[in-house]
Amino acid sequence: MIEINEFDEEEDEIYLPQTIDYLDIEKQYRQLMFMHEAAIEQVTAKLNILKGEFQFSNDRNPISSICSRIKSKESIVYKMQKKGLPFTISALMENIHDIAGVRVICPFIEDVYYVARMLARQPDIEILEVKDYIRDPKENGYRSLHLIVSDNVMFSNTSRGVTVEIQIRTIAMDFWASTEHQLRYKKDKEFSKAAHDTLKHCAELMAEADREIQDLAGDFDLNQW
Ligand code: GTP
Ligand code: MG
Repeated sequence: MIEINEFDEEEDEIYLPQTIDYLDIEKQYRQLMFMHEAAIEQVTAKLNILKGEFQFSNDRNPISSICSRIKSKESIVYKMQKKGLPFTISALMENIHDIAGVRVICPFIEDVYYVARMLARQPDIEILEVKDYIRDPKENGYRSLHLIVSDNVMFSNTSRGVTVEIQIRTIAMDFWASTEHQLRYKKDKEFSKAAHDTLKHCAELMAEADREIQDLAGDFDLNQW
């Protein structure tokens, strides 16, 4: 018979990173990545539950797709260098908030805010920062709702708040952002003012399409959140 209320002393050890930089940094780094992977799984599971529940009650889906990624070591090093940070685990944990990234694509603009509200209501999730690039688009036309959240993840003998960047946007916003990203990072090709202007114009077209589609959603009684 296993007694589940009793812990061995060994089991009581805390295995997660403790931001003591003189410990084996490689091991702490791997643990940190593991914690962020766990947070991505948890946030994705929450989103899938919201999606399923909404489908049941409203017979349609407020989430078209969900994808996620862990920031690569190269990107982390590049970002820390750019910010002039020391290569320590504590500097990484305190300053880099997009190690875990989740992107949610929605059919309608109002779905974006619905998903954000539903996440904010979850007791395990604390919203640390909101950047509403839909209300205030970036100069180049980029639109999306960005949330930095702390997701409380339960491990074997402790729970930790793990930071996750959640980007929520419509299909039209995602079309723009994905293609703009490919064009901007095309090697050996200068990103001209004309290209910038064309993309900005396309962003306005996407935004207009989103507004018109949102109005149609109202006409078809899809505005039930
Ligand atoms: P960093 O976290 O250092 O990138 O700066 P920040 O916190 O000011 O970034 P922000 O929250 O504005 O954007 C973070 C992420 O949003 C980026 O990593 C991209 O995934 C996305 N993003 C922001 N601006 C653009 C843009 O102009 N084009 C595209 N395609 N994506 C963008
Ligand atoms: Mg950021």
